[in-house]
Amino acid sequence: MSNLPELSEKEYLSLRDLVHDEFGILFRAEKLPFLRLRLLGRLEGLGLSTFDEYIQYLKYDRDRERERRMMIALLTNNETYFFRELPQLKAYREVVLSELRDRKLNRESRRINVVSAGCSTGEEVHSLAMLTYETGWFFWGWDVRIHGIDINQRNLETARKAEYFDRSLRMMDRNYLDRYFRRNGGSYYVKESVAGMSRFVHGNITSPAIWNSLCEVDVIFCRNVMIYFSEEKVRRTVDLFHGALEPGGYLFLGHSETLVDIHDGFEQIYLPGTILYRKRG
Ligand SMILES: C[S@@+](CC[C@H](N)C(=O)[O-])C[C@H]1O[C@@H](n2cnc3c(N)ncnc32)[C@H](O)[C@@H]1O
Repeated sequence: MSNLPELSEKEYLSLRDLVHDEFGILFRAEKLPFLRLRLLGRLEGLGLSTFDEYIQYLKYDRDRERERRMMIALLTNNETYFFRELPQLKAYREVVLSELRDRKLNRESRRINVVSAGCSTGEEVHSLAMLTYETGWFFWGWDVRIHGIDINQRNLETARKAEYFDRSLRMMDRNYLDRYFRRNGGSYYVKESVAGMSRFVHGNITSPAIWNSLCEVDVIFCRNVMIYFSEEKVRRTVDLFHGALEPGGYLFLGHSETLVDIHDGFEQIYLPGTILYRKRG
């Protein structure tokens, strides 16, 4: 028997509900040991001896917001890499960007806002920036921003630093490495010409606040984030995406995710190897 604190079924359910209500992520019953192991270090860090005390801390302490952020960072999957899901990125470049260029070319304000919701350490954002940059369409008179949102501050620090190692670059064409990265010993920095198009913000994508702070969103990528959400939270979050997107704006989901039976405010566009969702209207 270890002397480490146990997590009772009741405590587990309280923690599970707290995580679900605030962040959308739903842990199933078999995740009790996972939650316990991941959070034991937080109890030790805070000098607490039971999970019940930890739950009280998360609910009522003055520092609860900070602690909730630390907790969620320990519970989420951050896996990502450059140029993930090539058919989607091809569709972004060839269909979505060319449509946006044609639609906005004659406007006074030629602005494009792309959001990576749940951007992790920034590989998705920088990949989108490279694809946008290399079209050569958006240099003069255009303002193109790729916004990365994540709840994990540490991920955002990596994203802003734009320094990456082989693991993140494993699926990337060598040409991009030569063109858009600066090598420094064993690591690679995204060049400023591309990294300068990105902006990283800390936020919870299930909360309206983050979407209210963005305007005229043209494209949202939310890939491999909502797979961990309950169906109810997926519905609500997609509703927020729908509200933030311009009419005709695009939503990209991970390849195993779908809007079927979730939201009828989007039409499906079938392209080689992928499906895009386009806001109606
Ligand atoms: C598996 S990564 C996906 C990264 C990238 N979208 C991709 O497909 O390569 C999931 C990311 O979503 C973030 N995340 C999970 N729930 C979130 C929420 N409610 N609000 C913002 N970010 C969230 C996690 O912190 C993590 O960095």
